[in-house]
Amino acid sequence: MHKGRITKEGIRIYSDADFEGMQAAGKLAAHILDSIAPLVAVGATTEEIDTAITDMVDDAGARSATIGYKGYQHASCISVNHVVCHGIPGPKVLKDGDILNVDVTVIVDGWFGDTSRMYVAGRLNRKAERLIQVTHDALMKGIEQVKPGNTFGDIGYAIQRYVEAHRMSVVRDFCGHGLGRVFHAPPNVLHYGRPGTGALLEEGMFFTIEPMVNLGRPETKVLADDWTAVTRDKSLSAQFEHSVGVTADGCEIFTLSPANMFHPTYA
Ligand code: MF3
Ligand code: CO
Ligand code: CO
Repeated sequence: MHKGRITKEGIRIYSDADFEGMQAAGKLAAHILDSIAPLVAVGATTEEIDTAITDMVDDAGARSATIGYKGYQHASCISVNHVVCHGIPGPKVLKDGDILNVDVTVIVDGWFGDTSRMYVAGRLNRKAERLIQVTHDALMKGIEQVKPGNTFGDIGYAIQRYVEAHRMSVVRDFCGHGLGRVFHAPPNVLHYGRPGTGALLEEGMFFTIEPMVNLGRPETKVLADDWTAVTRDKSLSAQFEHSVGVTADGCEIFTLSPANMFHPTYA
């Protein structure tokens, strides 16, 4: 498979041994997301959750990929309600019914594990639950397309089709990305698209899929802090992210929840 090669689209082809590096990094990131579930509660602040994440990364002897990344200061992004992504942890107190995405990227022996999932403080209301379920299922529909011979457009199309069939919208302003021994590498993994378009998937490619789905319109804007992205129409937004590797006949998800806690109501 010409391991170590870079495709014409700039995508690195990793070796079988490299999968082990990604497994360790992905497992730690996913385990951290499992571990914070009890901390997400009415009255908690997002910085308390982030501090716990920082401590878990340290205790594991790993590093946070986000601390120091383009000036970002935290071990996680925590995006509450209409925040689409890149929410900065802070003194904001969670209230009953708030939904939040927590996104963690760790570096283990030089390998990057990047994953996010949704949580709820207190009671999950029906429309938020539906948004979260559709977003999670859309990610899994995209992952089902990951196999050699398919294209990145097949992934985006599967996600977009599923989301729009449920009368929700896919955010266009942010995308997934190649990763491995670096945080963000080619390609841009779009969560919308046309079947058969884009680069061909090949065994040994590592990348994230991380669809953001809005109950309202897809447009976003970035706040004055230069990080926090929100829905322009203030509608509720959700996101799930997995890091995956293309195998000979499909894909391996590096960031599956070790405790099977991928859904907020399972916490
Ligand atoms: N983890 C995010 C991603 O999925 C990137 C966060 S960069 C940060 O790609 F600086 F905002 F943390
Ligand atoms: Co990512
Ligand atoms: Co992420």
